[in-house]
Amino acid sequence: MQKVITIDGPSASGKGTIAARVAATLGWAYLDSGSLYRLTALHAKQNQITWTDETAIAQLAATLPVEFAGQTVLLAGNDASQTIRSEHIGMGASAVAKLPAVRSALLQRQRDFLTEQGLVADGRDMGSIVFPEAQLKIFLTASAQIRAERRAKQINVPLSGCEFEQILADIEARDEADKNRPVAPLRQLPDAKLLDTSNLGIEETVAQVLAWYEKSK
Ligand code: CDP
Ligand code: CDP
Repeated sequence: MQKVITIDGPSASGKGTIAARVAATLGWAYLDSGSLYRLTALHAKQNQITWTDETAIAQLAATLPVEFAGQTVLLAGNDASQTIRSEHIGMGASAVAKLPAVRSALLQRQRDFLTEQGLVADGRDMGSIVFPEAQLKIFLTASAQIRAERRAKQINVPLSGCEFEQILADIEARDEADKNRPVAPLRQLPDAKLLDTSNLGIEETVAQVLAWYEKSK
C-alpha cells in the first residue's frame, strides 16, 4: 500500500481545496495533477500548437519548464498561477488530457511528487493509474448547480444572470467531455469512497477524509 490519498471528482467539487487542507494537516506533500494538464495546455497555446496535435504536445509535456513554489506556479519563469485557472485553459486541459501520449509523458512526473511523509494527489487517474496502491481513494462530488455557485463566488460573479448561466453550462459541458472520453474518463472507482459535498462545508469535508484515513491505517 502507498502512503497516498487520492481525490478525484468533477470540476469545482472542491478537490484542490480539500486535498491541500488534508495535506497540510497531515504534513504530507500535495499534487494538483490538473495543474500539469492546464500548464501543458497553456504552454501549447503560447507556442501556437493546437490542442489536438498529440506528438507536439506530448513533447512539450515531457519537458514542461515548470516550478512549484508554494501557492505559485512558474511556467518558463513566469507566474502562471492565475492564467491556468481560466475556464478556457480548463477546456484546453481537458482536450490535451484526452491524448494518451500526453498522459504517459506526465506519468513519472506525477509519481515524483511522492515523498516519505506521504502524498495527497488530486485529479482524474490518481487512484487508477498513477497511484493504484493508494491507501485511501475519495470521489468528491456535488450538484452542478452548487459547483457553478462555488466557481462564480471564486471569480465574483453574481449567482444569477447570463454570466452565471455560462459558468453552469461550461461546468456541464466539461463534465460530459470528461465522462464520455475513452481515456481516463471521470468516474468513481469501485474502491473509492463517495463524498457528496453539496451540503457539506470545507471543514466537515476535511474531517470526513481524515476520519476515513484514520480508519484505513
Ligand atoms: O478543478 P477542475 O476539475 O476544474 O480541473 P482540474 O483538476 O484542474 O483539471 C483540468 C482538466 O484536466 C480536467 O477537466 C481533466 O480533463 C484533466 N485532468 C486529467 O485528465 N487528469 C488529471 N489527473 C487531472 C486533470
Ligand atoms: O479543485 P476543484 O475544481 O474540484 O475545486 P476547488 O477549486 O478546490 O473548489 C472550488 C470552490 O469551492 C473553492 O472556492 C472552495 O473554497 C469552494 N468549496 C466550498 O465552498 N465547499 C466545499 N465543501 C468545497 C469547496
